[in-house]
Amino acid sequence: MTEYWSKRFAQEGMIWGSEPSPSAEWAKRKFQEAGVSSVLVPGAGYGRNTKVFSADFKVYGIELSEPALELAAAWDPGTSFIAGSALEPQLRQSVDAVYCYDVLHLFLAGDRRRLIEASLRQVRTGGLLYFTSFSDEDPHNGCGRELEPGTFEYKEDKYAHFFSDADLREHFAGTEILETGSFTESLQNPQGGTHEYILRTILALKR
Ligand SMILES: C[S@@+](CC[C@H](N)C(=O)[O-])C[C@H]1O[C@@H](n2cnc3c(N)ncnc32)[C@H](O)[C@@H]1O
Repeated sequence: MTEYWSKRFAQEGMIWGSEPSPSAEWAKRKFQEAGVSSVLVPGAGYGRNTKVFSADFKVYGIELSEPALELAAAWDPGTSFIAGSALEPQLRQSVDAVYCYDVLHLFLAGDRRRLIEASLRQVRTGGLLYFTSFSDEDPHNGCGRELEPGTFEYKEDKYAHFFSDADLREHFAGTEILETGSFTESLQNPQGGTHEYILRTILALKR
């Protein structure tokens, strides 16, 4: 997986442009209402979304890919980026909130649990978690070989898990789920075209 992402970041740079996801603005409002002052972003990429938070909060980004970390340091110097795996806790101190965009669906079941467990270990009791991931309503769901229930090799050498609302809720069963939702993400590609995909979102509170 690291090799795949590192190759893409090295070749394509800021793959999804510099505009943040609308989900980051939405999560930021929820975090502000809750009085959050520190945020962890697992799988932070090149900082497209961390920058939304670093303007107002203390932000830590965890990222495995070196080329992404180099881009991130230049794009969002306000965030403290940590080179390492988001599947293990990387922070000594706990944060008030976690924002995790389109990382959870990249893993098979065991590692999805690890990502959520690691995130929970790094957020304080009463803190918030906001995750986005592919929806089972996305047209790629069901394409290619099924590796595990709901997980498809939808492109050559690339797989993802596609979440129903019930599945997403089940992954966060140990938390207090505040709300779930769904939206269509529209992304500009470097060639000037756009592509869309359907995401699910979850906002949960650590008990
Ligand atoms: C689909 S991209 C999303 C990037 C970013 N969340 C954003 O908002 O632009 C997935 C990112 O997760 C990173 N990643 C994959 N596995 C990881 C892991 N175990 N630990 C940390 N980052 C990881 C990849 O390098 C890549 O930057």
